[in-house]
Amino acid sequence: MIEKVVHIPVLLNEVIKALSLTKDDVYVDATFGLGGYTKAILSNQHCKVVAIDRDPQAKIFADNLKRSYSDRFYFKKGKFSELGKFLNELKIHNVAGVVFDLGVSSPQLDIKDRGFSFKLDGPLDMRMSSEGPTAQEFLEEVEEDTLANIIFELGDEIFSKRIAKNIIYQRSINKIKTTGQLANIVRNAIPKKKSRIDLATKTFQAIRIYLNDELKELEEGLIAAEKVLRPEGILAVVSFHSIEDKIVKNFFNRCLRNKTSSRHLPDLPKKNPSLEILTKKPILPSAKEICINKRSRSAKLRIAKRTYFSSTFGEIA
Ligand SMILES: C[S@@+](CC[C@H](N)C(=O)[O-])C[C@H]1O[C@@H](n2cnc3c(N)ncnc32)[C@H](O)[C@@H]1O
Repeated sequence: MIEKVVHIPVLLNEVIKALSLTKDDVYVDATFGLGGYTKAILSNQHCKVVAIDRDPQAKIFADNLKRSYSDRFYFKKGKFSELGKFLNELKIHNVAGVVFDLGVSSPQLDIKDRGFSFKLDGPLDMRMSSEGPTAQEFLEEVEEDTLANIIFELGDEIFSKRIAKNIIYQRSINKIKTTGQLANIVRNAIPKKKSRIDLATKTFQAIRIYLNDELKELEEGLIAAEKVLRPEGILAVVSFHSIEDKIVKNFFNRCLRNKTSSRHLPDLPKKNPSLEILTKKPILPSAKEICINKRSRSAKLRIAKRTYFSSTFGEIA
């Protein structure tokens, strides 16, 4: 039963404090999940929340919350890169805060049928939205060099070539259908070492990020958020690994408009900054939070405030 799964929101107090919630304002929870942030926002202030999640199962939790906050809560199923479109549909133009809590939710990890977990043996799926090719279909088609690059770039895995080679070899013998099969193929390709971290961790992370196009989504989601924020509106982003954190950091610097920091985006002329960075260094979870919730251990929160200058990325489409 998905309703029984619990997700402990990471850095919740810090996020709520960062948003400095004000009465009747609108906040966007770009990664609703089980609604931990949304619930805290709605119960802390008489404001509105527009929540987004691409996972169809998030709607179950959204429907529950809608019963308590029918006039202050709106849920949109879809990608956060489309948040501008969703707000247009709701005729909302002045947003006081946008929060992203990146990565996967507890049900995505803990329900084996979602196929994200190397700890549970489920179908090799890994799709957040349950649309598009599954991880199994992807691994049936991908070329060895491409796979090795994905595992290296998105998983930071130095044994990427060996892993890709073993996957391609094993798929020629048997279909790779389950997370358990894939985890063992990865583990068997890497020299054994004494580590608390499972040897399959980085490869699973890389395939998940690739399959869900998470980095492009993040770049586009941040741009969409900057465009919809009103002056003095807050952008708060919780990330869980270094690639994501680097994208957030570079994005913030880019909005200072004195640096060009993404190779995917064109150079911009020097102008007035559209964001003021409020966290020189990211905020990390306390030792107490890590003790209560192990999943928080790699979290980083970065916060920025929208200035009165025009958007770095032009008008809202
Ligand atoms: C870490 S969970 C969020 C948990 C939430 N803050 C809570 O307290 O319950 C991340 C969620 O973001 C969603 N997500 C990830 N990338 C997304 C994207 N590009 N667009 C929309 N939702 C996304 C995932 O489906 C997942 O439910």
